[in-house]
Amino acid sequence: EKVILAYSGGLDTSIIVPWLKENYKCEVIAACIDVGQGSETQMIKEKAIKSGASKVYLEDVKEEFVVNYIYPTLKSGAIYEGKYLLGTSFARPLIAKKLVEIAHKENAKYIAHGCTGKGNDQVRFEVSIKALDPTIKIIAPWRVWNIKSREEEIEYAIKKGIPISVSKEKIYSVDKNLWHISHEGGDLEDPKNEPKDTLFEMVVPPEKAPDCPEYITIEFKKGIPVKVNDKEFDPVELIEEINTIGARNGIGIADIVENRLVGMKSRGVYETPGGTILYYAHKELESLVIDKETARFKDIVAQKYADLVYNGLWFSQLREALDAFVEETQSVVTGKVKLKLYKGNIITSGIESPYSLYNEELATFGKDSVYDQKDAEGFINLFGLPLKMRAYQLLKINKD
Ligand code: ARG
Ligand code: SIN
Repeated sequence: EKVILAYSGGLDTSIIVPWLKENYKCEVIAACIDVGQGSETQMIKEKAIKSGASKVYLEDVKEEFVVNYIYPTLKSGAIYEGKYLLGTSFARPLIAKKLVEIAHKENAKYIAHGCTGKGNDQVRFEVSIKALDPTIKIIAPWRVWNIKSREEEIEYAIKKGIPISVSKEKIYSVDKNLWHISHEGGDLEDPKNEPKDTLFEMVVPPEKAPDCPEYITIEFKKGIPVKVNDKEFDPVELIEEINTIGARNGIGIADIVENRLVGMKSRGVYETPGGTILYYAHKELESLVIDKETARFKDIVAQKYADLVYNGLWFSQLREALDAFVEETQSVVTGKVKLKLYKGNIITSGIESPYSLYNEELATFGKDSVYDQKDAEGFINLFGLPLKMRAYQLLKINKD
């Protein structure tokens, strides 16, 4: 039997290799799916082999991540519980998709992952795998084995001859990709503790950012960012570029107590410098080109979309249906947004679009041809009618 293991190169997934071989008498194929976690791929390959994997797949899926997962979510405006830009959530279905593809290539019937039994990620992986191939069986060692602590993991690793890097003590549970870095656990588990400055890997703490503001201009075409400061980039480079600019200006730190799908609350600190700028800019542009009722309804869709992505239901019909709605709205989201970045703040400094609904003539107080001020009287009479009737009703009630 062959098992495809979602492999990161860390201790958690490394000890799963000998554990699977010991308990399932199987061949383990390690799959390292690169969504921009920035780890050294050659080292990962060697480590997987040293840990006992028979074969290693390394797949760079960064572009697919941006185009098919990040952009649709950005266009929808989805933000989980008002703060979280879903960086881990929408990477999981893509990783699951690649695992299933590798399983098919290898004719493997099992996929294993290293998620704990307490989090969202196990749900996202497994629900996605089921959606793509319901016949594949899933092995989640953390829900099965007796290893309970980091110390026991190390003990097991030594027993099995797994190379361990004792260099850096692992304090936090970190998930990194092109879009964000998440930090959970350690002293963050108590929401009254402020995150330590040393925790941040990407973003400069706002108070240490430059004393003079930096301008950034982002150009969108149908809701998709295509240029930064008038320069064209391919999708992956574009995110990297905005990340760099945002990070040095202290942009994109979110500190959240979030509701996990599995019922518990969890505290996380996120770094999403480029994502925060992109969401902001996209929303600003929409304010200029999308009409009021569509915008209101789009906010409802965004909320639904966020829950759906967070809960691992990426490969659902509902997501595709919501995408169709969002896509229709994006036909007008073309234009440029200029922002001023200053010590963690984003300040709008100019929006323009060929499809702007904002009519300067209409908004001025001068004479014009589209808006006849005489129309306002009748409008106010009808608009105010329910309140007028209520007033008469109240008069009656007070008399009785
Ligand atoms: N709480 C976030 C989410 O549910 C981040 C999870 C990070 N995952 C991890 N394995 N460290 O999307
Ligand atoms: C984990 O439990 O594996 C990480 C956290 C999460 O999935 O929410």
